[in-house]
Formats: sequence, C-alpha cells, structure tokens
Amino acid sequence: MRIDILTLFPQMFQSPLSTGIFKRAVDRNLLEIKVTNIRDHTHDKHHTVDDYPYGGGAGMVLKPEPVFETLEAITADMSREQGAVPVPIILLTPLGRLFSQEIALELSQYSRLVLICGHYEGVDERLREHLVTDEISIGDYVLSGGELAAMVVTEAVIRLVPGVLGSEASAIDDSHATGILEYPQYTRPPEYRGWTVPEVLLSGNHARIARWHREQSIVRTLKRRPELLDKVNLTAEDRQLIDRLRQA
Ligand code: ADE
Repeated sequence: MRIDILTLFPQMFQSPLSTGIFKRAVDRNLLEIKVTNIRDHTHDKHHTVDDYPYGGGAGMVLKPEPVFETLEAITADMSREQGAVPVPIILLTPLGRLFSQEIALELSQYSRLVLICGHYEGVDERLREHLVTDEISIGDYVLSGGELAAMVVTEAVIRLVPGVLGSEASAIDDSHATGILEYPQYTRPPEYRGWTVPEVLLSGNHARIARWHREQSIVRTLKRRPELLDKVNLTAEDRQLIDRLRQA
C-alpha cells in the first residue's frame, strides 16, 4: 500500500513514521508513505499557502493552487502506476464522515490513498468540489490541523493490511473489529498482591475459555457501549446472556 500525505507540517510526521508499526510496515515493504510539503508547491517569494476569506470572517483559508499542484506532482506517476483504479483523495476535516473501524477496513482495501491535512480555519471550497473525493473527521472536536487525524487514520488502516501486524489474530479480536469490546486480558503472574487471574483462563479448556471471552465481551459492551450491541450479529446464547444481565 502507498499512502501520500499532503501537509504544511511534514516534520510532525518524522518521529511517528520512524517508530513502531509504521516503521515495521515500511521495513517489510508492505507500506510506502510519502509526506509532501504543500508549501513546496508555491511560486511566490513568500511561499504563500493561505489568504483571507472572501466576504470576511475570522482566520485564514488554505489556497487552492498549492494543494492542486502538490497533488498533480504526486499523481503524475499515479496514472502510469495505477491505471484506471480510482485513488481516494481524502481531506481530514471536522466536517467529514466520522471515522470508524468500518471505514478503516474500507480504506485498507485500496493499494493507494492520498490524505490531505487541512489547516487554518478552512480550505477553499473548490478543493472539496473538484479535488477531494472523501472527507473524514476523527471525532467531534476541533484540532488545529489534519496532521494528527491523518496519523490516526493511517495507523488504523495499515494495521489491517495483511502482514503488518505480527499476528493477524490480534487484529481480529480487537475491540471494534468484532463489533463489540475486547474481553479482559491477564498475563503472568497468576497471583499478584493477592489478586488472582480468573480460574477459567488457567483451566486449559479452550471451549470454556472461548465462551468466557465472549461473555466478558458482552458484559463489558453492555456496561460501557450498549449501543454497539444493536449493530452486531448475536447468537441465541448471546441474547440469553444479555436478557439475564439486563434483568439482574
Ligand atoms: N482537523 C481539525 N479537526 C479535525 C478532526 N476532528 N478530524 C479530522 N481532521 C481535523
């Protein structure tokens, strides 16, 4: 997978991209990430990327030309490489569709993504109308720019690319991957300060353990995020458990 990130603050990506899962994915040739500075695609002496909004109002607006030209510089090779496959051009903005595991899965199916980090108070609307094909928000709060949002999206997406995680199973069990929250986990020692690990986990009985995991996931989801249970496929056994818990 190749991910292009267009930003005014490329240095923000340096450390995250050279650490952990990003580095591993790049080292394994599963991922190529290219961060491009939008400011490098300006032509005036001051490298202007923003300007006052027409009609007045607070703050500055990201100009269209440098963003269009940055993308055109990047996509010069894209048409040759990718043929007719459409590449999502995603603007990170609080106005976008709310990011979720489902969207991460959807994006992980593409071989190439372009992420544009908005900045200032807004972007020229013509970017939305004529360049961007998707807009994503990582939550109902406002950041100064799309950089951290782009990192969030990138990490959630690449961990779904086969081979990026050490163990594929760890992604499958994750909270939200299953639609419900992850069950409690324990590791050694079996007793710490008098607090013991649930006996079932030490039993070696895989069927019992699997049942316990499922039950605990449901208990947790019902307590913390009950609305998630409306969206997942539940077995008859799950439903009985939920009825019991609701009555208790
Ligand atoms: N840029 C500023 N705030 C943002 C948010 N919540 N999500 C994505 N991009 C943003």
